[in-house]
Amino acid sequence: MVAFSTNLEFAHVFSRLNKSTYILIFVAILVVAGVFYFNQEKEEYFTVSESLPIHYNGEHFAGSETCIACHQDIYQSHIQTAHYNTSAVASVETLKGSFNGSAQEVELIDGKAQILQEGDGFYQTIHSKTTDKLLDRSRLDIVVGSGVKGQSYLTFKGDSLYQLQVSYFTLIDDFINSPGYPNYKYTRAVTDNCVKCHVTFAKNEDPKGISNVYDRESFMLGIDCERCHGPLQKHVDFNTGNLNSTSIDPVVLIDSLSRQLQMDNCVQCHSGLRAIQIKENPFSFMVGDQLDTYAKNYNFGRPQAELDVHGNQYGLLKSSECFKNSETLSCTTCHDPHKKQRGDYDHFNSKCIECHAAPKNLHNNSGFDAANLTDCIGCHMPLFPSQTMKVKLEENAEETSVDIRTHLIGIYMDQVLQNGKE
Ligand code: HEC
Ligand code: HEC
Ligand code: HEC
Ligand code: HEC
Ligand code: HEC
Ligand code: HEC
Ligand code: HEC
Repeated sequence: MVAFSTNLEFAHVFSRLNKSTYILIFVAILVVAGVFYFNQEKEEYFTVSESLPIHYNGEHFAGSETCIACHQDIYQSHIQTAHYNTSAVASVETLKGSFNGSAQEVELIDGKAQILQEGDGFYQTIHSKTTDKLLDRSRLDIVVGSGVKGQSYLTFKGDSLYQLQVSYFTLIDDFINSPGYPNYKYTRAVTDNCVKCHVTFAKNEDPKGISNVYDRESFMLGIDCERCHGPLQKHVDFNTGNLNSTSIDPVVLIDSLSRQLQMDNCVQCHSGLRAIQIKENPFSFMVGDQLDTYAKNYNFGRPQAELDVHGNQYGLLKSSECFKNSETLSCTTCHDPHKKQRGDYDHFNSKCIECHAAPKNLHNNSGFDAANLTDCIGCHMPLFPSQTMKVKLEENAEETSVDIRTHLIGIYMDQVLQNGKE
């Protein structure tokens, strides 16, 4: 009743004001709202939250810095890996490519995309080709990719997440139209189907992870310990005596799992884009779970077709004679999940010899030089050019592409003979 009478009084006062006063008040409200809006936008730059998120399943993340106290060596080597560095807040330190003051350009059919630095921030602008009008200006908030092959950029508009038009391509140390993008101005909404493999955690507004609206405070960037080991605050509490002795340490002993379950932990991200989510959302799978009950790959059964940017190392390895004829071969036979091992060919070749002793006896073909057999992977896991990560360096030139190492271990006579000639 009280509220009602106050409203009546307001209406009474307003009815006595003249038209120009109305307009003045209206304009004043607009100005105040405008200032408020722009200020807010300035403060809304994406930053990583100080407090750690809680997983959908109710478990608390502890953050890798809490692991240092007891697992210092693993932490120190882990932070060097491509996993840890696969996503970050965009900054001078994390962005590859040179910005040296001038804008970097990518031509589109209908416009011109530019990447430029302004103060601490990096932006992408798109101008119309015909009118030169500014069509879009977006801040580079999150950078995706450690830079082995390249980097893409994500931006927030409010709480909605999008991928930007331009990407960085390491092979040519330059900026390109993002792989899979059309040659005209385009915006791709980013859902869990993108971030699921490049972050530790991000909470989507939709419980299935199919919206592009996120809780910005929930992002844990990079693939950190707890992406592979699960949220482990309880493990920390247990080992620091903050839980009573009847509690159970939730840490999963990966070595004690079956080969398939051990591999499933890697396979969630290394079997192509695996786009069919059967149960819950892409972050629900936990180490020790059976992956097939959560997600299926629509290319399942056609491993060769997926040999590309988002490689299907699992499908390929599974088709190899080594895998089919061994009970134990898995991803971690060759890869230490906590170490940066790219380029350490001695390490990888030594793994082959653990199962194939006396390689000399295996090679009797006269078509190549069998005297030097040290580079097993060069002949049996050769590099193939990628179908999607390719670019024309000049008009009319042949396309240059990123080479991807196949995980279909086998005998590649053509490659062997070709390598021999080079
Ligand atoms: C206060 C010490 C302490 C802290 C902090 C700690 N751990 Fe542990 N962790 C242990 C101890 C002790 C073991 C071995 C006994 C066990 O299995 O619980 C262990 C074992 C593990 C195992 C291995 C289980 C196996 O396969 O043998 C993993 C994985 C692990 N910790 C991950 C982590 C992660 C990730 C963090 C940080 C979020 C962390 N730990 C923080 C003490 C700690
Ligand atoms: C199913 C998991 C998965 C999804 C989904 C995925 N990626 Fe990837 N991405 C990978 C893996 C694994 C690699 C490493 C390349 C490989 O497979 O050998 C990679 C590589 C990359 C690279 C190159 C990284 C580098 O440092 O060389 C970029 C950039 C990238 N992804 C961006 C994206 C973007 C943008 C999306 C969403 C539109 C996306 N990815 C979705 C798993 C995924
Ligand atoms: C890419 C996935 C991945 C990430 C990221 C990861 N681990 Fe592991 N971790 C594994 C796997 C797989 C094993 C099982 C050991 C094996 O098979 O080599 C393991 C084993 C362990 C073990 C027990 C065996 C050992 O080597 O002592 C500890 C402790 C551990 N991890 C801690 C950590 C910590 C701490 C971090 C972050 C600093 C981390 N892990 C990040 C996959 C991962
Ligand atoms: C959450 C998704 C995810 C999981 C889980 C995961 N990976 Fe990866 N992995 C990636 C992405 C993304 C990249 C590309 C990182 C980049 O360069 O930006 C990558 C890169 C790699 C690389 C190339 C490293 C380099 O130096 O370039 C290897 C090897 C690898 N992963 C092996 C594994 C193994 C083994 C496991 C399981 C123990 C595993 N991954 C689990 C997503 C994942
Ligand atoms: C865990 C043991 C294991 C490891 C590690 C392993 N292999 Fe094998 N590999 C096998 C088995 C078992 C076979 C089946 C034939 C045989 O018994 O020799 C096989 C078969 C092969 C074949 C024949 C393929 C064909 O299509 O006929 C080649 C070539 C080969 N391995 C190369 C390698 C190379 C190179 C490496 C290292 C990158 C390697 N293997 C690592 C166990 C292994
Ligand atoms: C027999 C050994 C072996 C096994 C088993 C193996 N890999 Fe690899 N992997 C390699 C070698 C060798 C390379 C090339 C490393 C380099 O270039 O430095 C590689 C590279 C990679 C890369 C980087 C690919 C690229 O093109 O840049 C990824 C990702 C990867 N492996 C993931 C996996 C996953 C996931 C599994 C299990 C499904 C697996 N590997 C099993 C030997 C192996
Ligand atoms: C110069 C290329 C080359 C190198 C290096 C090489 N291989 Fe081979 N390998 C071949 C070819 C070709 C064959 C097919 C048999 C033949 O022609 O002798 C083969 C055959 C094999 C086979 C299958 C034998 C059979 O009869 O099933 C295995 C296993 C194998 N290699 C393992 C290795 C290992 C382990 C290394 C590293 C120590 C290695 N190879 C180095 C080219 C190579």
